[in-house]
Amino acid sequence: MNNFSYYNPTRILFGQGAIAKTAHYIPKNAKVLMLYGGGSIKRTGIYDQVKQALDGFTVLEFGGIEPNPDYATLMQAVQLAREEKVDFLLAVGGGSVIDGTKFIALAIPYTQSEPWDLLKTNAAQGLNEAVPFGTVLTIPGTASEMNYNLVISRRETGEKLSIKSEFAFPRFSALDPQVTYSLSAKQIRNGLVDAFMHVMEQYITYPIGAVVQDRLSESLMQSLIEIAPHAMEIDQPDYTARANFMWAAAMGLNSLVGRGVPQDWATHMIGHELTALYGLAHAESLAAVAPWLLWYKREQKGDKLVQLGMRVFGLISDDREALIEATIDALSTWFNSLGMPTTLTAYDFDPDEAAEAVAKRFDDRGWALGENADIHGSDAAAILRLSR
Ligand code: NZQ
Ligand code: ZN
Repeated sequence: MNNFSYYNPTRILFGQGAIAKTAHYIPKNAKVLMLYGGGSIKRTGIYDQVKQALDGFTVLEFGGIEPNPDYATLMQAVQLAREEKVDFLLAVGGGSVIDGTKFIALAIPYTQSEPWDLLKTNAAQGLNEAVPFGTVLTIPGTASEMNYNLVISRRETGEKLSIKSEFAFPRFSALDPQVTYSLSAKQIRNGLVDAFMHVMEQYITYPIGAVVQDRLSESLMQSLIEIAPHAMEIDQPDYTARANFMWAAAMGLNSLVGRGVPQDWATHMIGHELTALYGLAHAESLAAVAPWLLWYKREQKGDKLVQLGMRVFGLISDDREALIEATIDALSTWFNSLGMPTTLTAYDFDPDEAAEAVAKRFDDRGWALGENADIHGSDAAAILRLSR
């Protein structure tokens, strides 16, 4: 196991009634800016619950943060927060609103240069302050509610970039499984796949004797597989399944299972390009890349693929190659069983064109990704060409 430091200061308020408890963790007399997306919270009643919880605080609002939050939109919120001297932010939404709020929190006090530099250069590493914020999660999957990552898109330039900052941990996150009752099967499918892929990115590398991390990861993947059919029940939502889905997703990327182990993340990075270029939902982009990346890297990742196949998918075989192949098939079959496509041909663009475009972007940035830093532009292109 590698050396590591583990830090996660986010308080989780979990279960029914969690939203009402948020006010205890917002400083008294704070001027709060509540941030949300395209309006789902108004249809679902979450907006009213939050407003009730914030009774007594001065609350400003900023709505309209879009899926894959756009830099231009977020900068409007930064301007509002600066003008109004807001001192606490409350994100009410999914990964997009939460990531957007993280960016706003970092950007408000950042005046050294254009705030896009926080994503584009390593300016975020020099930060020494941010506006504190909490979150009310409305769609599980990204684990942004319990981590310090943010992924921001810029429509103007077709970019989608991610960073980490210790100032991007929420002070608290309210996780009430009942907020998921308004989600469609497609949204739940996306969350299940994203959560599963987060664990995979921290697991399918090479063995390093991290028994605890491996067993935790396997338990999270098994939990997601076990609860998926129940969590996908739309007409009569199953509280227990939704609660397990919500907690498994948060655990999948609160960085616990990734401490002290090699990590990959190439599927996510290739996927982000597909979202930026062609608008695929985040999880759709992952499912169209992962099986092919695993196939492309099956020798290097072989030991962990065998372990995944045996321990998570319950496969048995003396033939290592056959087991590796069966494991990748089992993953695709599981994604497909949720209604999630695993090839680029499901979408309306030319995979060859995508391969070239993504390769160029990787090469322009000098990227070498994966646990062995050996996935370059040409490898990303080869992986995308397999996805058909
Ligand atoms: O905008 P509204 O109207 O609220 O509708 C949203 C949005 O259209 C809707 N929604 C949310 N809660 C709902 C609901 N609809 C009905 N009922 C509810 N309770 O769902 C749509 C998608 O929301 P979004 O926040 O975009 O989804 P998700 O949570 O999947 O977030 C995706 C973003 O997170 C980034 C992705 O790249 C993408 O930008 N990620 C962030 C990560 C992180 N911070 O650690 C890691 C992930 O790998 C990921 O990259
Ligand atoms: Zn993800």
